[in-house]
Amino acid sequence: MTSEQKEYYGEYAEAIAQVRDSVMAELERILEGVSRDPEQAPFEHLISRIKGAESAKEKLRRKGCAEDAASALVNLNDIIGIRVVTHFIGDIYQILEMISGDGLWKVETVKDYIASPKPNGYRSLHVILSLPLPEGMAGRCGVELQLRTIAMDCWAALEHQMRYKKEVKNTALISAELKRCADEMASADLTMQTIRDVLKGN
Ligand code: GTP
Ligand code: MG
Repeated sequence: MTSEQKEYYGEYAEAIAQVRDSVMAELERILEGVSRDPEQAPFEHLISRIKGAESAKEKLRRKGCAEDAASALVNLNDIIGIRVVTHFIGDIYQILEMISGDGLWKVETVKDYIASPKPNGYRSLHVILSLPLPEGMAGRCGVELQLRTIAMDCWAALEHQMRYKKEVKNTALISAELKRCADEMASADLTMQTIRDVLKGN
Protein backbone atom coordinates (compact mmCIF):
# COMPACT_ATOMS: atom_id res chain seq x y z
CA MET A 1 0.00 0.00 0.00
CA THR A 2 1.27 3.48 -0.83
CA SER A 3 1.58 6.17 1.85
CA GLU A 4 -1.28 8.03 0.18
CA GLN A 5 -3.52 4.95 0.50
CA LYS A 6 -2.44 4.40 4.13
CA GLU A 7 -3.33 7.97 4.94
CA TYR A 8 -6.73 7.77 3.25
CA TYR A 9 -7.78 4.36 4.61
CA GLY A 10 -6.35 5.19 8.08
CA GLU A 11 -7.60 2.77 10.73
CA TYR A 12 -8.91 0.47 7.93
CA ALA A 13 -5.68 0.26 5.96
CA GLU A 14 -4.30 -2.81 7.70
CA ALA A 15 -7.65 -4.61 7.57
CA ILE A 16 -8.00 -3.97 3.82
CA ALA A 17 -4.48 -5.24 3.17
CA GLN A 18 -5.30 -8.37 5.18
CA VAL A 19 -8.51 -9.00 3.23
CA ARG A 20 -6.57 -8.64 -0.02
CA ASP A 21 -3.89 -11.11 1.11
CA SER A 22 -6.41 -13.69 2.27
CA VAL A 23 -8.55 -13.41 -0.88
CA MET A 24 -5.48 -13.80 -3.08
CA ALA A 25 -4.30 -16.85 -1.11
CA GLU A 26 -7.74 -18.46 -1.31
CA LEU A 27 -8.09 -17.63 -5.00
CA GLU A 28 -4.74 -19.22 -5.76
CA ARG A 29 -5.93 -22.35 -3.96
CA ILE A 30 -9.14 -22.33 -6.03
CA LEU A 31 -7.22 -21.78 -9.27
CA GLU A 32 -4.96 -24.74 -8.52
CA GLY A 33 -8.07 -26.89 -8.64
CA VAL A 34 -9.33 -25.52 -11.94
CA SER A 35 -6.87 -27.08 -14.33
CA ARG A 36 -7.18 -30.84 -14.38
CA ASP A 37 -4.59 -30.89 -17.13
CA PRO A 38 -1.24 -30.99 -15.29
CA GLU A 39 0.58 -29.58 -18.29
CA GLN A 40 -1.53 -26.46 -18.45
CA ALA A 41 -1.26 -23.51 -16.08
CA PRO A 42 -4.64 -22.60 -14.56
CA PHE A 43 -4.36 -18.98 -15.72
CA GLU A 44 -2.24 -16.62 -17.73
CA HIS A 45 -1.86 -13.96 -15.06
CA LEU A 46 -3.34 -12.76 -11.82
CA ILE A 47 -3.09 -9.22 -10.47
CA SER A 48 -4.61 -7.25 -7.63
CA ARG A 49 -4.80 -3.63 -6.54
CA ILE A 50 -6.25 -1.59 -3.73
CA LYS A 51 -8.25 1.38 -4.96
CA GLY A 52 -6.33 4.66 -4.90
CA ALA A 53 -7.53 7.50 -2.67
CA GLU A 54 -8.27 9.89 -5.55
CA SER A 55 -10.13 7.25 -7.52
CA ALA A 56 -12.20 6.28 -4.44
CA LYS A 57 -13.07 9.91 -3.64
CA GLU A 58 -13.98 10.65 -7.24
CA LYS A 59 -16.34 7.66 -7.42
CA LEU A 60 -17.94 8.52 -4.06
CA ARG A 61 -18.46 12.10 -5.23
CA ARG A 62 -20.13 10.80 -8.41
CA LYS A 63 -22.45 8.64 -6.29
CA GLY A 64 -23.25 11.57 -3.99
CA CYS A 65 -21.73 9.83 -0.94
CA ALA A 66 -19.37 11.08 1.78
CA GLU A 67 -15.76 10.83 0.63
CA ASP A 68 -14.11 9.31 3.72
CA ALA A 69 -12.76 5.76 4.05
CA ALA A 70 -15.68 4.48 6.16
CA SER A 71 -18.05 5.59 3.39
CA ALA A 72 -15.80 3.99 0.74
CA LEU A 73 -16.03 0.64 2.51
CA VAL A 74 -19.81 0.83 2.69
CA ASN A 75 -20.50 2.27 -0.77
CA LEU A 76 -17.82 0.98 -3.14
CA ASN A 77 -17.70 -2.55 -4.50
CA ASP A 78 -14.15 -2.38 -5.75
CA ILE A 79 -11.96 -1.28 -2.86
CA ILE A 80 -10.01 -4.40 -3.76
CA GLY A 81 -9.75 -5.23 -7.46
CA ILE A 82 -8.51 -8.58 -8.68
CA ARG A 83 -8.08 -9.66 -12.29
CA VAL A 84 -7.69 -13.23 -13.44
CA VAL A 85 -6.68 -13.56 -17.08
CA THR A 86 -7.43 -17.02 -18.46
CA HIS A 87 -6.52 -18.77 -21.69
CA PHE A 88 -10.00 -19.91 -22.68
CA ILE A 89 -13.61 -18.75 -22.15
CA GLY A 90 -14.48 -22.10 -20.57
CA ASP A 91 -11.89 -21.48 -17.85
CA ILE A 92 -13.81 -18.38 -16.74
CA TYR A 93 -17.03 -20.26 -16.09
CA GLN A 94 -15.14 -23.10 -14.44
CA ILE A 95 -13.55 -20.60 -12.05
CA LEU A 96 -16.96 -19.00 -11.42
CA GLU A 97 -18.42 -22.41 -10.56
CA MET A 98 -15.59 -23.11 -8.16
CA ILE A 99 -15.95 -19.75 -6.46
CA SER A 100 -19.72 -20.17 -6.11
CA GLY A 101 -19.39 -23.79 -4.96
CA ASP A 102 -16.65 -23.00 -2.48
CA GLY A 103 -19.10 -21.23 -0.19
CA LEU A 104 -16.33 -19.33 1.56
CA TRP A 105 -17.20 -15.96 0.05
CA LYS A 106 -20.42 -14.05 -0.10
CA VAL A 107 -20.99 -13.41 -3.81
CA GLU A 108 -22.99 -10.20 -4.01
CA THR A 109 -23.44 -9.91 -7.79
CA VAL A 110 -22.23 -11.52 -10.99
CA LYS A 111 -22.08 -9.19 -14.00
CA ASP A 112 -21.68 -11.28 -17.12
CA TYR A 113 -20.37 -8.90 -19.78
CA ILE A 114 -19.42 -11.96 -21.85
CA ALA A 115 -22.99 -13.16 -22.33
CA SER A 116 -24.08 -9.49 -22.54
CA PRO A 117 -21.16 -7.37 -23.75
CA LYS A 118 -21.23 -3.61 -23.13
CA PRO A 119 -22.33 -1.57 -26.18
CA ASN A 120 -18.69 -0.62 -26.84
CA GLY A 121 -17.70 -4.32 -27.03
CA TYR A 122 -16.22 -4.69 -23.52
CA ARG A 123 -16.27 -8.30 -22.33
CA SER A 124 -15.37 -9.78 -18.92
CA LEU A 125 -17.13 -11.56 -16.10
CA HIS A 126 -17.24 -9.49 -12.92
CA VAL A 127 -17.87 -11.15 -9.57
CA ILE A 128 -18.56 -8.75 -6.71
CA LEU A 129 -17.76 -10.12 -3.27
CA SER A 130 -18.68 -8.54 0.03
CA LEU A 131 -16.25 -9.73 2.70
CA PRO A 132 -16.15 -9.08 6.42
CA LEU A 133 -13.24 -7.09 7.83
CA PRO A 134 -10.87 -9.19 9.95
CA GLU A 135 -10.34 -9.31 13.68
CA GLY A 136 -13.81 -8.35 14.76
CA MET A 137 -13.67 -4.99 12.99
CA ALA A 138 -17.21 -3.97 12.03
CA GLY A 139 -18.01 -3.55 8.36
CA ARG A 140 -17.41 -5.09 4.99
CA CYS A 141 -15.02 -4.71 2.10
CA GLY A 142 -16.09 -4.85 -1.55
CA VAL A 143 -13.98 -6.96 -3.86
CA GLU A 144 -14.36 -6.85 -7.65
CA LEU A 145 -13.04 -9.95 -9.34
CA GLN A 146 -12.64 -9.54 -13.08
CA LEU A 147 -12.32 -12.75 -15.08
CA ARG A 148 -11.35 -12.44 -18.73
CA THR A 149 -9.45 -14.23 -21.48
CA ILE A 150 -6.16 -12.99 -22.91
CA ALA A 151 -8.07 -11.65 -25.94
CA MET A 152 -10.60 -9.76 -23.77
CA ASP A 153 -7.75 -8.37 -21.66
CA CYS A 154 -5.85 -7.28 -24.72
CA TRP A 155 -8.88 -5.40 -26.08
CA ALA A 156 -9.68 -3.78 -22.70
CA ALA A 157 -6.09 -2.60 -22.23
CA LEU A 158 -5.94 -0.98 -25.66
CA GLU A 159 -9.41 0.55 -25.39
CA HIS A 160 -8.53 1.94 -21.95
CA GLN A 161 -5.38 3.56 -23.34
CA MET A 162 -7.23 5.18 -26.22
CA ARG A 163 -10.14 6.40 -24.11
CA TYR A 164 -7.96 9.17 -22.72
CA LYS A 165 -7.17 10.57 -26.14
CA LYS A 166 -10.14 12.92 -26.08
CA GLU A 167 -9.02 15.07 -28.99
CA VAL A 168 -9.56 12.30 -31.56
CA LYS A 169 -11.63 13.08 -34.61
CA ASN A 170 -14.16 10.66 -36.14
CA THR A 171 -15.25 9.41 -32.72
CA ALA A 172 -18.17 7.45 -34.14
CA LEU A 173 -15.99 5.66 -36.67
CA ILE A 174 -13.34 4.86 -34.05
CA SER A 175 -15.99 3.47 -31.69
CA ALA A 176 -17.46 1.32 -34.43
CA GLU A 177 -14.01 -0.01 -35.34
CA LEU A 178 -13.20 -0.77 -31.69
CA LYS A 179 -16.50 -2.61 -31.36
CA ARG A 180 -15.76 -4.59 -34.53
CA CYS A 181 -12.35 -5.50 -33.10
CA ALA A 182 -13.95 -6.70 -29.84
CA ASP A 183 -16.40 -8.88 -31.79
CA GLU A 184 -13.63 -10.36 -33.94
CA MET A 185 -11.59 -11.17 -30.85
CA ALA A 186 -14.64 -12.78 -29.25
CA SER A 187 -15.10 -14.88 -32.35
CA ALA A 188 -11.42 -15.93 -32.18
CA ASP A 189 -11.92 -16.86 -28.49
CA LEU A 190 -14.78 -19.18 -29.49
CA THR A 191 -12.67 -20.81 -32.20
CA MET A 192 -9.76 -21.28 -29.79
CA GLN A 193 -12.14 -22.92 -27.31
CA THR A 194 -13.40 -25.26 -30.04
CA ILE A 195 -9.85 -26.20 -31.06
CA ARG A 196 -9.00 -26.92 -27.46
CA ASP A 197 -12.10 -29.06 -26.98
CA VAL A 198 -11.29 -31.03 -30.12
CA LEU A 199 -7.71 -31.59 -28.94
CA LYS A 200 -8.96 -32.77 -25.57
CA GLY A 201 -11.39 -35.14 -27.27
CA ASN A 202 -14.63 -33.73 -25.92
P1 GTP B 1 -16.99 2.02 -12.90
O1 GTP B 1 -17.25 1.77 -14.36
O2 GTP B 1 -15.59 1.69 -12.47
O3 GTP B 1 -17.42 3.37 -12.46
O4 GTP B 1 -17.88 1.02 -12.05
P2 GTP B 1 -19.26 0.33 -12.35
O5 GTP B 1 -19.89 0.10 -11.02
O6 GTP B 1 -20.02 1.03 -13.40
O7 GTP B 1 -18.80 -1.10 -12.83
P3 GTP B 1 -18.56 -1.69 -14.27
O8 GTP B 1 -19.06 -3.08 -14.18
O9 GTP B 1 -19.07 -0.80 -15.35
O10 GTP B 1 -16.97 -1.70 -14.44
C1 GTP B 1 -16.05 -1.88 -13.44
C2 GTP B 1 -14.65 -2.03 -14.03
O11 GTP B 1 -14.65 -2.84 -15.21
C3 GTP B 1 -14.00 -0.74 -14.50
O12 GTP B 1 -13.38 -0.08 -13.44
C4 GTP B 1 -12.98 -1.26 -15.53
O13 GTP B 1 -11.85 -1.84 -14.90
C5 GTP B 1 -13.75 -2.37 -16.18
N1 GTP B 1 -14.52 -1.88 -17.34
C6 GTP B 1 -15.85 -1.70 -17.40
N2 GTP B 1 -16.23 -1.23 -18.61
C7 GTP B 1 -15.10 -1.09 -19.33
C8 GTP B 1 -14.83 -0.63 -20.67
O14 GTP B 1 -15.70 -0.25 -21.43
N3 GTP B 1 -13.52 -0.64 -21.08
C9 GTP B 1 -12.51 -1.07 -20.27
N4 GTP B 1 -11.26 -1.03 -20.74
N5 GTP B 1 -12.73 -1.49 -19.00
C10 GTP B 1 -14.00 -1.51 -18.54
MG1 MG C 1 -19.11 1.47 -15.41
